[in-house]
Amino acid sequence: MPIMNWDKSLDIGVKAMNDEHHGLLDIMNQIYDAHAAGKQGATINALVAKLGEACTEHFAHEEAYMQRIGYPGFTNHKALHTSLLTRYGDFAARIRAAGGIASDDFFQFLKFWLSSHIKGIDTKYAAHATSVGR
Ligand code: FEO
Repeated sequence: MPIMNWDKSLDIGVKAMNDEHHGLLDIMNQIYDAHAAGKQGATINALVAKLGEACTEHFAHEEAYMQRIGYPGFTNHKALHTSLLTRYGDFAARIRAAGGIASDDFFQFLKFWLSSHIKGIDTKYAAHATSVGR
């Protein structure tokens, strides 16, 4: 059972970024399902690493997109990405140190981040893209 499902409230209207957000949600659900099935150790560590890499890649793509459309909030948005990756790295390190056991607060962080960042932050560059006809 997924921890979070895609719904229209997560649609920012930029297809390439929506597709990547879908991908992040899929990996997040894979981690949750593995955790719920009692998996620990290398399986969890590998999935957590996979999500970290996918986030890093997504943020780089999104930052390039924001620059292409001349988004004025680029610097602040990039700083939020940097902060999220730092926090994610801290969680990943804790999970590794615990022997590949994901914690509830990790899932709360993921769920809150994915939802609030997409709906509250990513939608702003999407609105800018629409306003400049991109
Ligand atoms: Fe889609 Fe700013 O992350």
